[in-house]
Amino acid sequence: MSQPIVALSHICKSFHDGEGEHQVIKDLSIALNQGDTVALTGASGSGKSTLLNIIAGFEHPTAGSLKLLGQETSDWQDKQWSEFRHQQLGVVFQQFNLLTPLNVRDNIRFALQLNKLNWDDWCDHLVDNLGLRPLLTRDVEALSGGQQQRVAIARALAHKPALLLADEPTGNLDHSASLEVMSLLTSLAKQQQTCVLMVTHSEVCANYMQSRWHLESGHINQDTQVSSAQTAMQDTVAATQAPTHTSTQTDSQVATQPESSEAV
Ligand SMILES: Nc1ncnc2c1ncn2[C@@H]1O[C@H](COP(=O)(O)OP(=O)(O)OP(=O)(O)O)[C@@H](O)[C@H]1O
Ligand SMILES: [Mg+2]
Repeated sequence: MSQPIVALSHICKSFHDGEGEHQVIKDLSIALNQGDTVALTGASGSGKSTLLNIIAGFEHPTAGSLKLLGQETSDWQDKQWSEFRHQQLGVVFQQFNLLTPLNVRDNIRFALQLNKLNWDDWCDHLVDNLGLRPLLTRDVEALSGGQQQRVAIARALAHKPALLLADEPTGNLDHSASLEVMSLLTSLAKQQQTCVLMVTHSEVCANYMQSRWHLESGHINQDTQVSSAQTAMQDTVAATQAPTHTSTQTDSQVATQPESSEAV
């Protein structure tokens, strides 16, 4: 069996503030394999973003081991972290972190250029499914929160990362746009075997993922149950063909959206 994409072993994370040490993550051991899709839930302040930041190398654990694609990261220097982030990782930040004063197209191109890739059918597929086509030449700082969030999602997915870390990627989107994003993520995970760890406060969005990690008091309660309804929904979504990286331009295909009457 191939190595887990992410393996956390006895990870702890504390912060120091004016009142002393504050332990956010406590002795966490958990793994993500190729193609896994996980919803990370938990109350505000429970440490969800901190956990994503540890996996992305933006924060370092106070104790424990983090392996990425089988490699121990404790002695990684900036160069190794940069390589991993550029080539293997896509991140949708809670605050978007778009590049200003660039326009939408150049923000999406950024991850491609780091990997010497060209704009291709997959990028067109993202742009069309995220409703970004009319916005491509607009400066990102002039966009609404929901529009910026969709750009952040396209940028994170443009280079087809092995691992996507998404921090409330639908937090600023309306119901219909949220379902489109979830369709994209599930079809990507199925077709590209991308591993997705997604923070969400939405039950509807969480149910698109195969399993759930609930973070509470520094520990994760793991629920790996996938209902048959969920599996059927994911199969429906994955039946949509997403283009692969090629240099040929074709019409983009629109992802099928599963129906849901629940609020997102
Ligand atoms: N750099 C930091 N320095 C000090 N404390 C921090 C830092 N980053 C996070 N924390 C603290 O760690 C705890 C968890 O924060 P985190 O942002 O991970 O929560 P969260 O689950 O993502 O919350 P939300 O749902 O509101 O985004 C909070 O108490 C926060 O104040
Ligand atoms: Mg957060």
